Amino acid sequence: MSCSKWPSGRRAACWAGLAMLLATAANAATPAPSTAHTVTFDRHSLIIDGKPTYIWSGSFHYWRLPSPESWKDVLQKMKAAGFNAVEIYFDWGYHSPKRGVYDFTGIRDVDRLLDMARDVGIYVIARPGPYINAETDAGGFPGWLVSTAGKPRSTAPEYTAAYQEWMTQIDRIIARHQITDGRGTVLLYQVENEFYNDSPDGRAYMQALEDKARADGITVPLFGNHNTNFFEGVGKLDMPGYDSYPMDFDCTRPDRWNAVYDFASERRGLKDTPLFFPEYQGGAFDVWGGPGYEACRKLTGPAFERVFYEATMASGSTMQNFYMTYGGMNWGWLSSPGVYTSYDYGAAITTSRQLTPKYDQQKLIGYMTRAAAPLARTDAVGTWVPDNPRLRVTARVNPDDGTRFYILRHADAADTTDDATHLKIALGKNGDTTIPLAPGTAIHINGRDSKVLLANFKFGQQDLVYSTSELLTQLHTGDRDIAVLYGRPGEDGETVLRYDDRPTVRVLDGKVETRWDAAAHTLRLNYRHDGLAKVEINGGKAPLLLLLGDNAAATRFWQLGATDEPVLLRGPYLARTAERHGGVLALTGDADRAGELEVFAPTGTRQVTWNGKSLQTTASASGSLLSRIDGPSPVALPALDAWHVTDGAPEIATTFDDRAWQATDRTSTPNDYWDHKLPILDSDDYGFHHGHVWYRGHFTATGKETAIQLSANLGVHLGNHGIFTAWINGHFLGNNPSGSQQFPIDPAWLKKGGDNVVSVLVENTGHLQEEHNGAFREPRGLLSARLEGSQAVIRWKIQGNTGGEDLVDPMRGPFNIGGLYGERNGWHLPGFKDSDWAKATLPRTTDKPGMDWYRTTFKLDIPDGQDAPIAIRIHDAVPLHYRAIVFINGWQIGRYISDVGPQTDFELPPGLLNRHGENTIAIASWSTAQDGGLGEVTLVMQGNYTTGLR
Ligand code: GAL
Repeated sequence: MSCSKWPSGRRAACWAGLAMLLATAANAATPAPSTAHTVTFDRHSLIIDGKPTYIWSGSFHYWRLPSPESWKDVLQKMKAAGFNAVEIYFDWGYHSPKRGVYDFTGIRDVDRLLDMARDVGIYVIARPGPYINAETDAGGFPGWLVSTAGKPRSTAPEYTAAYQEWMTQIDRIIARHQITDGRGTVLLYQVENEFYNDSPDGRAYMQALEDKARADGITVPLFGNHNTNFFEGVGKLDMPGYDSYPMDFDCTRPDRWNAVYDFASERRGLKDTPLFFPEYQGGAFDVWGGPGYEACRKLTGPAFERVFYEATMASGSTMQNFYMTYGGMNWGWLSSPGVYTSYDYGAAITTSRQLTPKYDQQKLIGYMTRAAAPLARTDAVGTWVPDNPRLRVTARVNPDDGTRFYILRHADAADTTDDATHLKIALGKNGDTTIPLAPGTAIHINGRDSKVLLANFKFGQQDLVYSTSELLTQLHTGDRDIAVLYGRPGEDGETVLRYDDRPTVRVLDGKVETRWDAAAHTLRLNYRHDGLAKVEINGGKAPLLLLLGDNAAATRFWQLGATDEPVLLRGPYLARTAERHGGVLALTGDADRAGELEVFAPTGTRQVTWNGKSLQTTASASGSLLSRIDGPSPVALPALDAWHVTDGAPEIATTFDDRAWQATDRTSTPNDYWDHKLPILDSDDYGFHHGHVWYRGHFTATGKETAIQLSANLGVHLGNHGIFTAWINGHFLGNNPSGSQQFPIDPAWLKKGGDNVVSVLVENTGHLQEEHNGAFREPRGLLSARLEGSQAVIRWKIQGNTGGEDLVDPMRGPFNIGGLYGERNGWHLPGFKDSDWAKATLPRTTDKPGMDWYRTTFKLDIPDGQDAPIAIRIHDAVPLHYRAIVFINGWQIGRYISDVGPQTDFELPPGLLNRHGENTIAIASWSTAQDGGLGEVTLVMQGNYTTGLR
């Protein structure tokens, strides 16, 4: 990357950014030597170093979070919730602005990303495409591929040469992070994406991709998300996989509930591979004009997570990845047509990296998948039906140790009634029992809920006969076993443990009744889930501390590894890391308020630190250490009340000099997808792939011109709300949102016998995602133009982003800017001098269609050790006809359409935002009719936390 191609006035800004990125790259850890691991699988599960392992994974796209320092935040938050894997798409188009040109530096430094995953200790499921879909421009194909020949996703030689170029580049990086070589945590490699072309060519293509990956040094298992394809024959993958979105993507009715599909039948089709979901619904994307992401979060909320994820478990799946766990943002022009800037996805972690109730729920299940290791190897087993027919139970058993899992829910998963039941369960040589035993109690499924109950489960030195509470976690630390069990608030719980002799029981907190059955050698505990009860049991092979909580209490626990012994914490918003240095236990994490911190510490802990500060601790009755942690200091945000504004569309005026622009004189293109009118106007053919494009058409008027017919490709069939506006000799012709329109010409506007100019501004809302037909090659920009009333020929010129595929700002990359005058002249960049622009305050309305640029600066000083996500909000009391693109310090982080919506808040990722100094906002507002302008613009805080992230 180089700043030398930048216009001289803007080089300083480029160098500053470059220096920042190089400094952070130098801090990245180098791979530590370690031993190679094995990754195999059988029909039950993935097997890592011989150990059957339940894979609980979430999707994250680094290219939707242009802030490497925040990658670590997301990975740590995932790990803290019990995810042991992260699934990552690598986006070809994000790295390659031009054929043969690849950038893996700065925000594109995937080497650094994979190092972080290793350091955080999370497996990586790599998905490099070449095609990825993902609601991104052209489904991840680079802009330069649009104007090439060769059927995409086939063995066509032109396409083959192109994708091999990408694979060589990305495989080289992925290969050096494979767990099989002991240098990283890359666990699996996906080949293609939802590729359902089971033709001879489709199979040959698949095989060629697999051969290429292997030739590039990929040694981990190859898998697909192609449902029932490529199980056998040419193109066969090591591991097939299913994608499933049971709630679909319509967030307008978030209370809707669909049926649970039982994948057990699919399971039978898999001979020697586990039931794997590379994509199981983790949220939903939203569309322009949609209801917004809180609705999607509701559609796919905690109840959905419990019922559907546990149903998948009941089908025998041991590999679930959720798409998305962190969605992020389509900054710049990254989105495919139809979706807007936010790709929050209604996911467990919001775009501004905040934890939601969905995160809590995933954590509850995720911890269990880790704590109940026998779950990775189970077979379906028959069981008695519940005594309440409205409920349905599925049983699974581990063939080696007999651990049983009972997954209970409503037979009709959409039921919202509260139903009680007893379950008859098998306890092996200990016979069958109907539970719960305590008179007057029952197991409840209240509404859309699901429970996984364990029986015959041995952990630490303990023998759990069964529990009607769910297991959060169990661990051995501080010379004792600890187990955390939980249930819905107010519901009864019953836990039975087996002992040779009667143990001594101490109820330390809460109300718990115990009963010893001497004949059966069992200790029964009965309680109501309400806050947190603590019970100490001595006399078994090792002491046991039982922590019995309701859901809310359970979600406040965090389990971290501390070198040799795990640590259990209770209290904070987030716990990130735990390390032991002698008797010092160093913890890091985040707090949203001041509060209690309880530490169940390893033996020999003398001192506890939190984010580097020593804590005062007192020992509790349960042997834990109690302390308090501080909350964040308040953060005040400045008002944005001093703006500068200027006209940003000189291209409208007849006097504008377009001599340097390219003439659209092409009469042929390798892109055979479209029946182009000649000469070709498609902006991709001239190297302009993203953002706005200007056209200026010159003609000699006869004076008889009555109208002009203009056609552009706006992809409106996708409801993506594209638009173009047109002027003739500086007179506004109108706007068009449908793609084609005849605009009347007032004869008084024409210069008979002279040069007349038509100026057209078109928004490229992205290239289509691909199926198997080349649709991503659909043209963008103007398609054709015709004058009515005369034969005069229009000679067009075109201007998109400066340099086209030869980026002037490689640091910010191919998607950051398009061809607006202000973008071509660096008006979006910090340091640009706007002092001669007019002063303005917002909101501001205008009756002049065109483009206005607004700029302001503001200072921040967020206290060190605090994470305070901030967004820019645009508010219009009444929707106007304008659309704006928003830049923070030169980075385009938002596209706003006043009369379409729904997004009004645009997140400012750390790193792009200067939290300790000056920031520049630039907004280009395109008034597409006579009632445009720009609404009120404010800074809003989305949260405030102390943080252990450094
Ligand atoms: C899947 C696809 C993903 C994404 C998802 C919907 O079919 O593989 O890339 O597009 O749908 O968000």
